[in-house]
Amino acid sequence: MHYSNEQIAELVQPTRLHKNVYIDPDVFDLEMQRIWGNAWIYIGHDSQVANAGDYITLNYGKMPVVMVRDRNEQVHVLHNRCGHKGAKVVDQPCGRVGAFRCCYHGWTFKLDGTLAGVPHLSGYEGTGFDKSDPQYSMQKITSASHRGFVFATLNPNPPDLRTWMGGAADVMDNLCDRAPEGEIEAAGGVLRYEHECNWKLFLENLNDTMHPMIVHQSVVDSAVDYIKTLPEDSPRRDEAEIIPPFGASYEVFEATGITGFKYGHHYDGGKTSIHSNYSVDPDYEKAMIDAYGPERTREILTFNTHNTLYYPSLTIKSAIQNIRVVRPVAVDRTIIETWSFRLKGAPESMLRRTLLYSRLINANGSMVGPDDLTAYFRVQQGLQSSGSDWVEMHRNFGRDEDLGDRLKNTGTSDLDMRTQYAAWKHYMMEVA
Ligand code: FES
Ligand SMILES: [Fe+2]
Repeated sequence: MHYSNEQIAELVQPTRLHKNVYIDPDVFDLEMQRIWGNAWIYIGHDSQVANAGDYITLNYGKMPVVMVRDRNEQVHVLHNRCGHKGAKVVDQPCGRVGAFRCCYHGWTFKLDGTLAGVPHLSGYEGTGFDKSDPQYSMQKITSASHRGFVFATLNPNPPDLRTWMGGAADVMDNLCDRAPEGEIEAAGGVLRYEHECNWKLFLENLNDTMHPMIVHQSVVDSAVDYIKTLPEDSPRRDEAEIIPPFGASYEVFEATGITGFKYGHHYDGGKTSIHSNYSVDPDYEKAMIDAYGPERTREILTFNTHNTLYYPSLTIKSAIQNIRVVRPVAVDRTIIETWSFRLKGAPESMLRRTLLYSRLINANGSMVGPDDLTAYFRVQQGLQSSGSDWVEMHRNFGRDEDLGDRLKNTGTSDLDMRTQYAAWKHYMMEVA
């Protein structure tokens, strides 16, 4: 069905959401058009294309794109479509090339997408075909980056990326500042899984702090029992620090606080989070103090957030140096990618911990992620059944503290959902 602005407004009300938000393929198509077509969407980190000719391919909404670095160090996001008859030009997930060459009739394109060569050009003479006309190039998509994180947008008049991120940029900065050299790089490959649920169920779970003690109870209990069997003098095990906080009490999560921003971004924590009691590797601490001095080091390492969402496509954990990326496929199918990062100038133990966390928490055979996935799948199933049309989001409604550029509420509030759906509505309404 076609949704009018009034019908969209009906779907998202202050304390409840209509189930069609999650199950109607027409809503999904509209989301791809209006949210993915207007917001800044995360493409990749520029360290993934470190050298001239390096590229990665991905789907940006429903559009295949390639992110590539040219010979002038510029990173471009190009529509992965040949300007001749439309074939997808690049077929591999990543690689390095001198130029792109279409597999069909051999048109070639420079690394910035410009059409370079057309075989047997004489046939075009006098036909009106102009090889230098940009319509025959691989189309360049507007892109911008912050601290190496590259975003793209199809909005012809987008807000500046940094302005769009608002106060949520502090967390991206914190992630990079945790590197003694102030820079990070993608390392250790990617974990990529398809989830049988709507993309928004994943986002809503990020800072849903009413679920961990229920959904993850069995794994936390087992981990805690196992830790008790370890001898007193056993070497420190990162697992013993990573898993138990998932079973923290309502009071602990309540105290973390949620902060929401314009455009749907938000984070949980700040002073405390499930990561704040991790021990600090002495070699890492020394490298940080050498780079920043003791006071700035303390400031950086005590800014402890849990998940930060750059709505709708990127979520980062600065304290553990990994990110998760949302790639919707269909109304009930979503690809989630987990990427890990190396802190430049830090000892390798930091990257080992990040990779351990990604495997332990986010992998399909891990101990925590599959619990969440089961919950998303069950929600999707429940919503697809007939019966009640609504899901609720009342927690701490009416108690959001307005600080001008941000809203704050307790860690167990539904402020994160309200923030996301304010942005959802903003993007989804047709502009007259
Ligand atoms: S479709 Fe690409 S060269 Fe013809
Ligand atoms: Fe969870």
